[in-house]
Order: sequence, then structure tokens, then C-alpha cells
Amino acid sequence: MNFRDIPKVELHTHLEGSAPPAFIAGLAREKNIDISGIFDAQGGYAFRDFDHFLQVYEAACTTLQSPEDFRRLTLAVLEETAAHGVVYMETFVSPDFCGGGDVAAWRDYLAAMQDAADEAERTMGITLRGIVTGIRHFGPDQCKIAAACAAETKGDFITGFGMAGGEMVGRPGDYAYSFDMAREAGLQLTAHAGEWGGPSMVAETIRDLKVARIGHGIGAIDDPKLMAEIADKGIVLEVCPGSNVVLKAVSGWDAHPIAKLRDAGVPVTVSTDDPPFFHTTMTDEYDMLAKTFGWGADDFRALNKIALDAAFCDDETRARVAKRLEPKDE
Ligand code: ADE
Ligand code: ZN
Repeated sequence: MNFRDIPKVELHTHLEGSAPPAFIAGLAREKNIDISGIFDAQGGYAFRDFDHFLQVYEAACTTLQSPEDFRRLTLAVLEETAAHGVVYMETFVSPDFCGGGDVAAWRDYLAAMQDAADEAERTMGITLRGIVTGIRHFGPDQCKIAAACAAETKGDFITGFGMAGGEMVGRPGDYAYSFDMAREAGLQLTAHAGEWGGPSMVAETIRDLKVARIGHGIGAIDDPKLMAEIADKGIVLEVCPGSNVVLKAVSGWDAHPIAKLRDAGVPVTVSTDDPPFFHTTMTDEYDMLAKTFGWGADDFRALNKIALDAAFCDDETRARVAKRLEPKDE
């Protein structure tokens, strides 16, 4: 079956992490920045493990220095994502990489991203929403600055607040102030947890940060009671199987817990995380889920409905996207 053309909803991508390596290499050349060490002989990103991945990611981000860079990046990413049938996408963006937390600079970067998103919506029919993201290993104080940027710019484009980065740094509760600030501003919440941490990290994230969604969350598989709680509360997991395989959070596709989580009643969705880093696309993810677990068109339709129901958008947008997900008459 050709999964490319199925209309898809993708909730978990990182904007900087979706930058094609050739795009970053081009910016580096333009600006005379030497980041040759982050590429392999084929021009792809090269990293040994998760910590090294984060270092390579941050080195790539040093080339993104202006709103115009982010406008070009957003357009390039949306073009690639739309080519895989994605009609609605959410992306994590960090003030840390867009003006270093200065609210005025952040507004300029966001305006450029929104400009690109508007153009892509007009020309490619893909809708984008942004989730402002604190970086956990930058610490709780830096995360508060990201949360303040989020609170200042909540609107049509910025609809959520989240946290990515090194999950084993600190505890979720250390970041509660930031999540409280974002919640009070009316933003919807998600946080990476259970990518590396076990069930207790997922449980604490739900308890202390009061999130509606969890990024990854696969660590929940080791605790049936927690899985029941997640199912009961309707907390949605943004699962990124290809990312987990490449970063070795799981030993391979066969060992990935997504099917068992779904069978336990946990609402799961599928995303690519940082597609060029993990040599994946949404089409590849669907292909591998079909090959590994026998999932087919009905399973993917159900998956996309869960994702759209959990999307951080208003009801008018949700209804508009729902129409795009309806099967077309043959
Ligand atoms: N930032 C970008 N990708 C990430 C991942 N998979 N985990 C944590 N932080 C990230
Ligand atoms: Zn992620």
C-alpha cells in the first residue's frame, strides 16, 4: 500500500531538528561557520548517542541566526512535510535559539515563521502551529524565560508550551513554575518524558506539570497501572518510533512498545521528531508500522483522529482539518 498519500496529522516535530543537513551546511558556508564536524561523509548529520545528538543539534542551530533564516527553514520544512501527506503539523520552537530569550527578538523570529506558515498554507495546504519549548538541560531558570516568551506570544500560531532536551537532568517538578505560567496564559501543555526515563518520570511529569500530552512516553510500558491511568485520563503520547530506534531508546522496530501501548488503551500518535537526523519521513514511519505490526489504512485513520482530537488548535481549525482527513471517493 502507498502510505504517502494518506492525509496525516503530525504532532511532534522540532523545527530546528527538521532542518535538512544541506540547508544547515549552506547557512554555515554563507556565514563562514565551521561545523564540518557534525556531518558524515555523505553530508548527513553524524552522532554517536543521545547526548552527542543534542550537541550536534545545538551546533547546527548556531547557523540559524536571523528571522529570515527561520522563514526559509519553516518553508523548506513545510514543503518536505506536506510532500508526505501531512495536512496539519505542530512544531517545537525554542526562544533559546531565536534571540536567546529576548521577547522583542522572539516576536521578530515568530513573525517570520508565521509568514512562512501562511505562505505554505496558501500554496501547499498544510497548517502549522507552534509549541514554544524550554530546553530541560539548560535548567529551570532558562526554561522560565522560554515560558515568559510563550506567555507573551500566545495566539493564532503559538498555541502550546513544552519541554525537550536532556530528560535525565533534574526532575519534572523543577520546571513546574514554567508550566504553571504557560497554563495561566492559556497555552496547552506537553513535555518530553519516558523517552529515556522510566514510568516514574512519566508519572511525575503528569502529576507535576499537568500536561495533556507526553512527548514519547514509551517508558510507561513498564507499569500497567500507569498505562491504565494514562488511558483513563486520555493523556496522548506523541510516539516517534523511528527516532527511538535510531537513538537506541529501543533495541529495534520489533521491540518498540507502540503496539502494546495501543492495545492497553493508551492513546498513541505517530511523529518523526527530527526527520533528517533519523533518516525518516511520515511515509517511512507508516511503512515500518505496517511491516512490523501489520497496521493498515483503518489503523492509520484511527491514529490520525486521535492526533487531531489532541491537536493544540482551535475548534474551527480542527473542523477544517477533519474535512481533509475524510477518505476521498475513489
Ligand atoms: N530535541 C530534539 N529532539 C529531541 C529528542 N528526541 N529528545 C529530547 N529533546 C530533543
Ligand atoms: Zn522530540
